[in-house]
Amino acid sequence: MAVRELKPGVYAVGSIDWHRRLFDELIPLPHGTSYNSYLIKGSEKTVLVDTVDPAREVELLTNLQKAEVKKIDYIIANHAEQDHSGTIPKILELHPDALIVTNQKCREMLKDLLCINDEKFLTVTDRSTISLGDRTLEFILAPWVHWPETMFTYSREDKILFSGDFLGSHFASSSLFANNEAKVYEGAKRYYAEIMMPFRKIINRHLEIIKGLDVDMIAPTHGPVYEDPEAILNMCRDWVSDNVKNKAVIIYVSMHGSTEKMVNHLIDALIERGIAVKPFNLTGTDLGELAISLIDPATIVIASPTVLVGAHPEAAYAVSLVNALRPKLKFAAIIGSYGWAGKMVEQITGMLSSLKLEMLEPLLVKGHPKETDFQAIDRLADEILTKHKNAGLC
Ligand code: FEO
Repeated sequence: MAVRELKPGVYAVGSIDWHRRLFDELIPLPHGTSYNSYLIKGSEKTVLVDTVDPAREVELLTNLQKAEVKKIDYIIANHAEQDHSGTIPKILELHPDALIVTNQKCREMLKDLLCINDEKFLTVTDRSTISLGDRTLEFILAPWVHWPETMFTYSREDKILFSGDFLGSHFASSSLFANNEAKVYEGAKRYYAEIMMPFRKIINRHLEIIKGLDVDMIAPTHGPVYEDPEAILNMCRDWVSDNVKNKAVIIYVSMHGSTEKMVNHLIDALIERGIAVKPFNLTGTDLGELAISLIDPATIVIASPTVLVGAHPEAAYAVSLVNALRPKLKFAAIIGSYGWAGKMVEQITGMLSSLKLEMLEPLLVKGHPKETDFQAIDRLADEILTKHKNAGLC
């Protein structure tokens, strides 16, 4: 692991986790990740901004040795989650006079999560500052990216915003800076979709606050550092906006092919009507890909056979995820095949309670779809097109 300089006196000292493939035992990491920790050597005080996952503690300690750090005065905790806070106890052990600088909410969480004593903290409030001698660090409370205690740290003289998870990307790279832009931005989009999409209204407010800062570098806790903040900020503005697009996501599972035939017919019907379609067969879906695809479509179609009395469990699992992520969808339809009876429509509709959706007429087919069923699917495609047109999307 290497120590890399962002600006004079500011160093990346964290860890690249090339081979991690799952986060929170839920989120796929196809490109690994990094836990970014930053060292600022002020003229009077030395600061560590966030730490690393405890499994990568040795790398952080090795980097601090390489950077010839004798004393750490402050450990800034922008976020309490353990992939950034988990090595704080070890740093405190090695630098017993260091203070953890964070907000009140994060302080309480760190006490709970890491069993740190109360006297080890220096509590900051929104827009309060600390001096490092030649530098001033300003703290900006930014809750819900993606926990309630999150904050940003802004180095005024360096014009660096240490943004915690915000604008981060699960992307392991040897480049300190985001020069492989397409991949980094895709990683950042995936990260936003997976954990921050439910908080997009709040994130919009944070973006407005950042607009008022003179920032020429954004240093998140995952993935490369942005030297061109405006590009990633503009992308994020689009993700969090209320705008939806002329797109439909279809999530489906099929046991004996009947539901799949309905889905395939619907895909063609939507394409023929000029609507972009993204289908996901849930038996082999990367949930991160699904999350990305939920950022801006106007419509979701949920297609499932009936199992016992309800939706196929794969469909129910995906719907629970959609409901939790709270994408800005406008319309939803439920289609599928059944054998004798069931309550799939009521079940799935009930599971989408967090979304403000207009539910279109469901379409359930007994057994294999017949010609009249395919005609009904065409009418559903017509209805989706009409809804999109009326919403000004096409
Ligand atoms: Fe990267 Fe929310 O921790």
